Amino acid sequence: MAIQTPASTKGSCPFSGAAPANAGQGGCPVSDPEAMARAFDAFEGPYQLDPAEALRWSRDQLPVFYSPKLGYWVVTRYDDIKAVFRDNILFSPRNVLEKITPATPEAMEILKSYDYAMNRTMVNEDEPAHMERRRALLDHFLPENLEQQQDMVRRLTRAKMDEFIDAGRVDLVEAMLYEVPLLVALHFLGVPEDEIATLKTFSVAHSVNTWGKPSDEKQIEVAHDVGRFWQYAGEVIEKMRAQPEGTGWMHHTIRMNEKIPEVVTDSYVHSMMMAIIVAAHETTSLASANMFKTLLSHRGAWDDICADPSLIPNAVEECLRYAGSIVAWRRQATAPTELNGVALPEGAKLLIVQASGNQDERHFEDGDTFDIYRDNAVDHLTFGYGAHQCMGKNIGRMEMRIFLEEMTRRLPHLRLAEQEFTYMPNTSFRGPDALWVEWDPALNPERESPEVKDVTRHFPVGAPSRQTIARKARVVEVRQEAEGILGLTLEDAHGRPLPKWSAGAHVELCVGDFDRKYSLCGAPDTGTYQVAILREEQGRGGSRHIHETIRAGDEIKLRGPSNLFRLDEGASHYVLVAGGIGITPILAMADRLKALGKPYELHYAGRSKRTMAFLDRVAADHGAALTLYADDEGRFMDLPGLVEALPEGGQIYSCGPQGLLTALEDLTADAPEGTYHFEHFSTANSGLDPEKEQAFEAELTDSGMVLQVPADTTLLDAILAAGIDVACDCREGLCGSCEVAVTEGEIDHRDMVLTRAERSANRRMMSCVSRAKNGGRIKLS
Ligand code: HEM
Ligand code: FES
Repeated sequence: MAIQTPASTKGSCPFSGAAPANAGQGGCPVSDPEAMARAFDAFEGPYQLDPAEALRWSRDQLPVFYSPKLGYWVVTRYDDIKAVFRDNILFSPRNVLEKITPATPEAMEILKSYDYAMNRTMVNEDEPAHMERRRALLDHFLPENLEQQQDMVRRLTRAKMDEFIDAGRVDLVEAMLYEVPLLVALHFLGVPEDEIATLKTFSVAHSVNTWGKPSDEKQIEVAHDVGRFWQYAGEVIEKMRAQPEGTGWMHHTIRMNEKIPEVVTDSYVHSMMMAIIVAAHETTSLASANMFKTLLSHRGAWDDICADPSLIPNAVEECLRYAGSIVAWRRQATAPTELNGVALPEGAKLLIVQASGNQDERHFEDGDTFDIYRDNAVDHLTFGYGAHQCMGKNIGRMEMRIFLEEMTRRLPHLRLAEQEFTYMPNTSFRGPDALWVEWDPALNPERESPEVKDVTRHFPVGAPSRQTIARKARVVEVRQEAEGILGLTLEDAHGRPLPKWSAGAHVELCVGDFDRKYSLCGAPDTGTYQVAILREEQGRGGSRHIHETIRAGDEIKLRGPSNLFRLDEGASHYVLVAGGIGITPILAMADRLKALGKPYELHYAGRSKRTMAFLDRVAADHGAALTLYADDEGRFMDLPGLVEALPEGGQIYSCGPQGLLTALEDLTADAPEGTYHFEHFSTANSGLDPEKEQAFEAELTDSGMVLQVPADTTLLDAILAAGIDVACDCREGLCGSCEVAVTEGEIDHRDMVLTRAERSANRRMMSCVSRAKNGGRIKLS
């Protein structure tokens, strides 16, 4: 059976037509999350139509819940999923390839008759065996070795496209997206290219067997295919053993099996041979089909890529985030524990739904909107995270980039044909069975200009650089908001609405040689942005440049929005404290709290009312909650009084000068965790002075690598240079994105993200600025 989907289910009740028995009268049953948890079905209904949308209620109300139908704990928020991936000791991957629907006795007998003995591979192996194996087999996946594979991928892609370029209508899955990733996988692995059609049957059977819910009858058919796949894998290994000089990763694995059989065991080689064909191929085929479907149904994005192929690497990441091919993965608790306040027993099985985390608004602004300019798309969890993160992620990325580059260049007029999409029902692998596309061959650009066919663009292997991601925006209006403060209204240069944002969010304006961050302070749903910019005479020149050069009608580049200063909407009372230009995020928070009907106070201080922006607006919109303080009028904030009067369950949010933030941090030192939230708008971190710094060593527990971090290099740069992905945004210790976990060693904290308590715990550090104390050694997990 295949699941059919309409074009979009966003915004509609996820349970319409499938409401649980006690789902309240007449409306969407989200008012009863417990009932939603009981009704959750991973094999049919809303989850199969759109897993992220189907679990929106859970992200908002019950982010970790037990599904009695599945027998798993379902985890749906970004941070929780990442925390589970990060701790592969407490949350073992041992159940990753377990049959999610247990085999019937008959199917077991059939599998036995084929000597089926699928066991540990890499993805479902515990430590320390896993890391030893991963280290021994990592080389082929390093970026410098993958660079050589680009020509092979392009050659295979072009050959397939040549076959259908004049057809005018094809099923892209059948015509290219199924076969090319399979051929690439076989080349990479060094496996002979025979029996492509048989392999298709085999890998579908393996997926259904592992992640699907086959009927008793289907179990028999699947068991035969899986059994044959197992035997085929064994035969291929024997053939490969007879070619000791063979190239490719599986040949390397076989050689390592002979060299270090206790690490790369016989059982591993056989199991891996079967698993890797699916891991390397099915994942990429499905992700590519999702990518074309998504881009062709967001025509603006497709047209932008056709016009500017440099957007391709980030568009691929956004497709992997918004419509990834692995929507959920599994883990098993090895001890009783707690996740987001929910007690989990030892042995608890977890379904961690990456598709849901990937659209979690707590991490991705406007998370359910597809946006190829999203500057943190690369944070998606589709490749997993931590010690087991996909080893082949850069091969998958490479293939998807090349497909997109070749298709947008040679078939920019491609469109999605009218069709109903069908999907194989299962918990984890997602992509349409077919993808019909159409175009007018008479308009193929290469008919007019044959050279179009051979243009080649090279993208370096690896995650896209954040510096290359920015959208074009136009300045609609420039206003003087107060003395020394300029207000700008910005719109998208293509006339599309700019993405929605949440209170506390900021954007980065790229003007001239300067990239500077400014909080958003207009209304969030207008499709335009408002920022206010203080002219800082002592700054690095960015604000002066904007004040002096920006005029209405100018086109600039804009990065974001991102939110590193989030409002917890569950507090009982709010005290908002703004100093000077720090009013910008605080004003957005006040607007939001007013809209929510929450009790709040707004305290706004400045040197003089002449220099305080938005005075009329704050008075008109927040008059009842507002207290103003102007130094030149002799009115100063009573910070101890504010903190003392904070009712239980209340929270304080502050943005302003360093002195204000530190004073509040001191005053709230003994308050319950989560009481005080702050955002700096500038930093004293202005780079490394090698004269004053010391070199140090960082040991990476996961890979066993020991990095030397010289006096003129940050830890972040040393990690990135070793080919390990770490997110990084500000590189100034302001945003928290480059955090790494520390298990041993003393840290010299230099960031403005961690609280005092978090610093003294000595467990986390911001790798862009913080270092090991006194040139010592630190151990990172
Ligand atoms: C592991 C996804 C392509 C080889 C994984 C995991 C996921 C994943 C979710 C488990 C991660 C975890 O447990 O943290 C994907 C996606 C791909 C892709 C979405 C394409 C878009 C590939 C390719 C190859 C590959 C092309 C090989 C050529 C592997 C291997 C592992 C793995 C060997 C096991 C790593 C370990 O456990 O240490 N992949 N994958 N993958 N993937 Fe991929
Ligand atoms: Fe922002 Fe390090 S990149 S804190």
